Amino acid sequence: MDIRFVKRKNLKEKPKDALGFGTKFTDYVFNMDWDEDEGWHDAEIVPYDDVKMDPASMVLHYAQATFEGLKAYKGADGNYYLFRPYMNAKRFINSNKRLCLPELPEDLFVESIKELVKLEKDWIPEGEGESLYIRPFMYAKEVKLGVAPSKSYRFSIILSPVGAYYPQGMAPVKIYVEDELTRASLGGTGFAKCAGNYAASLLGQVKAEKLGYTQVLWLDGVERKYVEEVGSMNAMFLIDDTVITAPAGETVLPGVTRDSVIKILKDKGIKVEEKHLHIDDLMAAAKDKRLKEAWGTGTAAIISPIGELFYKGEEEIINDFKTGELTQEIYDTLTDIQWARSEDKYGWREKIDID
Ligand code: COI
Repeated sequence: MDIRFVKRKNLKEKPKDALGFGTKFTDYVFNMDWDEDEGWHDAEIVPYDDVKMDPASMVLHYAQATFEGLKAYKGADGNYYLFRPYMNAKRFINSNKRLCLPELPEDLFVESIKELVKLEKDWIPEGEGESLYIRPFMYAKEVKLGVAPSKSYRFSIILSPVGAYYPQGMAPVKIYVEDELTRASLGGTGFAKCAGNYAASLLGQVKAEKLGYTQVLWLDGVERKYVEEVGSMNAMFLIDDTVITAPAGETVLPGVTRDSVIKILKDKGIKVEEKHLHIDDLMAAAKDKRLKEAWGTGTAAIISPIGELFYKGEEEIINDFKTGELTQEIYDTLTDIQWARSEDKYGWREKIDID
């Protein structure tokens, strides 16, 4: 790939304090444009800066915007890695198809990320649980107020050194089961990683926080009875000896961490069922203590234990509000692979060759 490079005059100072999530950004951004005549063209890596935009740019009015989230790690073996980036590339294609955005070939997606991360490798933090969060995104640029697919788009990648997504880290969180608002319905965009899904989730999130809960557990958009996602993560429940999670691909995002955890669980001999779990059955299992553990999975948060569920006035504590043994075990197995502390028997690590 031919990439124009514009060097910064002064590099930024690397952060010295606790990183938190998504507030600090590296020195450069990757951009590439698409239009009907030229397809993808004009790839560039330029100093991180404000985006100048016409106020009538379509994305500002009709939310033609999609994104991905993945991480780069400095491995215990001294190498630099991405984690399953081709899964993100495939999901990006599916999200873009749903929103009538152009397809970005998988190799181009992964190569663009590698080029930027290679340049910014010194930004990959090395503290416990720290990594470089990669945010590829695409948006409509055409200047027009008619509702239609845009005729031009920009694809960009920004990088952010991060620590834990939730300040609680691996401590359990309290979850509010939302029984009015929903995040996705059949035929909608639930499976796509598009900006509008996250905008539509905010009112539920604010409501939960006002009531003293950290996150929302979303129910399905048809009957408001079946458990789907938790916050911006996939949700998993250990009931008796089986882990239950909602089927992905229609109203539920096909999470990379979700897929990885399912494979790890199955490999450990634990039964996994991808099925629609009724909220009444979940609450009954919690009451009877058959709900042994629960957690969310996502790239940003990795694994987030659930310690309490609140639904229609009823409150149930899970595992005495302690991080479960299995929850901790899958976190350890997954993060050992991601940070190259263990053998990569699944072939999930994607090495970045630094010349
Ligand atoms: C992720 O887990 O990577 C996400 O995209 C969730 C959130 C930061 C939007």
